[in-house]
Amino acid sequence: MKSPVRAIILGYGIRGRAYAAYAKTHPEDFIIAGLADPVAEFPADIDCPTWKSWEDALDSGTPADAVIIALPDALHMDVCIKALERGFHVLLEKPIGCSWAECQAVRDAQIRTRRLVLTGYVLRFAPFYKKLREVITSGVIGDLTSVHHLSAISYGKASHAYCRGNWSVESHGTGMLVNKCTHDFDLIEWWTRGRKCKKISSFGSLYHWRPENKPEGAADRCKDCPQAVREKCAFDAYKIYYDSTELRYHFPDESDEAMLKMIETSPYGRCVYACGNDSVDHQTVLMEYEGGLTIILEMESYSQRRNRVTHFYGTRGEIVADEHQIEIKPFLGDSTTIIPAQTGHHGGGDREIMTEFVKLVRDASPERFTKILDAALESHRIAFLAEESRYTGKTILE
Ligand SMILES: NC(=O)c1ccc[n+]([C@@H]2O[C@H](COP(=O)([O-])OP(=O)(O)OC[C@H]3O[C@@H](n4cnc5c(N)ncnc54)[C@H](O)[C@@H]3O)[C@@H](O)[C@H]2O)c1
Repeated sequence: MKSPVRAIILGYGIRGRAYAAYAKTHPEDFIIAGLADPVAEFPADIDCPTWKSWEDALDSGTPADAVIIALPDALHMDVCIKALERGFHVLLEKPIGCSWAECQAVRDAQIRTRRLVLTGYVLRFAPFYKKLREVITSGVIGDLTSVHHLSAISYGKASHAYCRGNWSVESHGTGMLVNKCTHDFDLIEWWTRGRKCKKISSFGSLYHWRPENKPEGAADRCKDCPQAVREKCAFDAYKIYYDSTELRYHFPDESDEAMLKMIETSPYGRCVYACGNDSVDHQTVLMEYEGGLTIILEMESYSQRRNRVTHFYGTRGEIVADEHQIEIKPFLGDSTTIIPAQTGHHGGGDREIMTEFVKLVRDASPERFTKILDAALESHRIAFLAEESRYTGKTILE
């Protein structure tokens, strides 16, 4: 029997906690060797060293096979390179870096150290997306001619993360496209494996959550906003965090009392029109691939939906997938619908990526490691080129 993989978790926020959960369900495979976070409360029953910073954790000499980097975006490159240089395998939350140059620096370090860098692209490990890829690659709809992919974030989640929260200011890390849509670009890379994207154009802006759209009489924090104004505001923090429970998993304490306190005191209680945000709230990316395949990615904040809907067009039929069901519509023969079983966060992707991580660390075959990182880098390459197109107004040719 193989011994469990021991990993130090750097950053014990939402993602750190999600990966830590695997130790409870799979103790024979995965052990938490240490936890680092300056503010998080660590579980009382945890039996491992804890530190206030990632530096202290890496300097501690604590024996471990790997580290999991679930820190803010701006720290990813530095911490990943240092962890690799100390001989650890790494599960690195996306993005790999905040610029293409940072991503390249991580790649150089991976090649130098021959250690694993597995990026937190949980969706490709989720049973739904595994099934979808199987259907696409089965040839049932012939050659892909075009793909229309909608990444609908929902106005609640988008206001939380990209207006009030961590990714509201592009210069503090990465903007919406690189942070959120590298998941989408990663899926696209997986669906089109082997075909290179040759041309990219992108358009997008911060359309609505701007100071000039603040309703008359609105205050800078929802707690100070007149009831009559709040009633008409869909983005009112009380509606998003108190009336609804959908986003409470972002906070360690999900109780009503904690939500009220959080709305009164934290950045998540600010008026969406007074957050100093500059991240885009909608963006479209047009891509042309080798062989003429065209792909449209549309990212939208102002939606009731919080899912991805993808329409694949092929020479022999169509597929429509919406993270719940996969409809296969060949031009000849009957249509079918598949509903893959899904359990757990990210459709089971959080759990399955950990299973893969443990397997990769145990098998330790450095020949595969660079390929794994390169596949993840492709999504970043496209995302950064799309941003270049948005900033310059030009079509980027590769
Ligand atoms: N794969 C996914 O689907 C997915 C989803 C959400 C977020 N993410 C990524 O995961 C990362 C973390 O996001 P999150 O939502 O968990 O954020 P978070 O804010 O909940 O967690 C980050 C944690 O890092 C801690 N931290 C900050 N500086 C530190 C330091 N010097 N040393 C140790 N800890 C420190 C913070 O206190 C915080 O608890 C981000 O890069 C984000 O892009 C990935």
